[in-house]
Amino acid sequence: MLVQSIDNFEKINPDVLVVSLFEGEATHVDFVNKFVVETKDFEGKYNTTYLIPTLGQFPAPKILVLGCGKRAEFNQNKARVLIAKAIKTVAPLKLRRVAFDVDFGFDYGKFGTIGAYIGNYSFDKYKNKKTERVDEVYFTKVCPAEIEKGELIAQAMTFTRDLANEPAAYATPQKLADIALGLEGVETRVYEEPEIREMKMGAYLAVGQGSVNPPKFIHMKYSVENPKKRIAIIGKGICFDSGGLDIKPAASMLTMKDDMAGAACVLGIMSVISRLHPEVEVHGIIAACENMPSGSAYKPGDILTAKNGKTIEVDNTDAEGRLTLADALCYASELGVDEVIDIATLTGACSVAFGAVCAGILGNCDELVRNVKDAAFEIGEKYWELPTYEEYANGLKSEVADMRNTGGRSGGASSAGLFLKEFVSNVKWAHIDIAGVAFLDAPLNEFIKGSTGSGVRALLNYICK
Ligand code: BES
Ligand code: MN
Ligand code: ZN
Repeated sequence: MLVQSIDNFEKINPDVLVVSLFEGEATHVDFVNKFVVETKDFEGKYNTTYLIPTLGQFPAPKILVLGCGKRAEFNQNKARVLIAKAIKTVAPLKLRRVAFDVDFGFDYGKFGTIGAYIGNYSFDKYKNKKTERVDEVYFTKVCPAEIEKGELIAQAMTFTRDLANEPAAYATPQKLADIALGLEGVETRVYEEPEIREMKMGAYLAVGQGSVNPPKFIHMKYSVENPKKRIAIIGKGICFDSGGLDIKPAASMLTMKDDMAGAACVLGIMSVISRLHPEVEVHGIIAACENMPSGSAYKPGDILTAKNGKTIEVDNTDAEGRLTLADALCYASELGVDEVIDIATLTGACSVAFGAVCAGILGNCDELVRNVKDAAFEIGEKYWELPTYEEYANGLKSEVADMRNTGGRSGGASSAGLFLKEFVSNVKWAHIDIAGVAFLDAPLNEFIKGSTGSGVRALLNYICK
């Protein structure tokens, strides 16, 4: 899709012109005194639209009026949702060249571009009949540089959404490794199974040992001279989570190709990071594997030794994400970075508590958690803090090992977070649980069903601050 800044929509002959109407501000939209659109009973309530055919009397055959709600309550996030809504409204009508001449009162170039990409998104690679899409988007009253920033963020999101929407048969650990090796502007090293064993990642290895597809430990690095900060981001990379021998029921297993949404987020970020060129060193880390039941699978009751020497009794093979992350966190703790952030579809408990509305976040440094949360909110992702009271770790005690991998059903998102904390040393750390938000089983706001690319916008905004 092409997105461009223009000063005058008349020059480009759009298929549709999109205009804005704020509640209580006007009953009609008047363009340079040439064409007055009667909006009649359309009140301009937020997230409503009104389509008008112009019958040859105007430079565009259709005008779409966007209801923006009250101006005092308007903001960049609403602008993004509305642009996405406009794209979704006109695309099925085969209106492929879309000009926006909206009066939002601020430069919406970045947010509008992200919104346009989200609204235009569909995953139809495997369908013979493709979804109708918009080809060209033009914005008036925006700065081209803002569009450019938006495009990189939006392209990263699309990359992540596509990858997380792919079936597990496609998005294997090997595939994730190949993608990482092909990225421009980052150095990538992939550790094979024998090397993972040498690094003593016993928890991660156990999770992957039941699959015919071997694990791949992926380390990407974006470097700059004299970085003002060094950050490592770790994405949970379970390419399929069957639950292992503690197998999931059919309904819960159906979406478990998405259990690598955290990894897809990290790959999406690394795919654009060199073009955004922040003065921050960024490490992207993925301990990719599949959690499968088989004759070689790890078993409930097994005792594993993680990279930092801590031993873990396997209480449930379906609590596998934290085992892979444990070793990845040990690895990241040894990189000499200032901050480590992990992002993971970690617990059903987080999804139950927050639904698809917001992600959970916790960590060992209030300031880091607050800054990540603020950066997320600013660019349209919602995070809510999970409690870290030490009692949440009570259930993680084991009689035969240093800990066990589950902490009981209640408070599951917090106990999982406290489990991870055991593998972080001498570094600021935040953990983001995207189990509820990474993929949708019904459309929400500007997103269709399926992968949302959670974490991409938020972490890019945080890194590029
Ligand atoms: N990948 C799941 C978490 C999940 C659940 C993500 C639903 C998205 C939607 C994770 O590996 C898992 O199975 N967690 C278990 C942990 C339990 C066994 C302690 C869970 O949440 O039920
Ligand atoms: Mn699981
Ligand atoms: Zn999982």
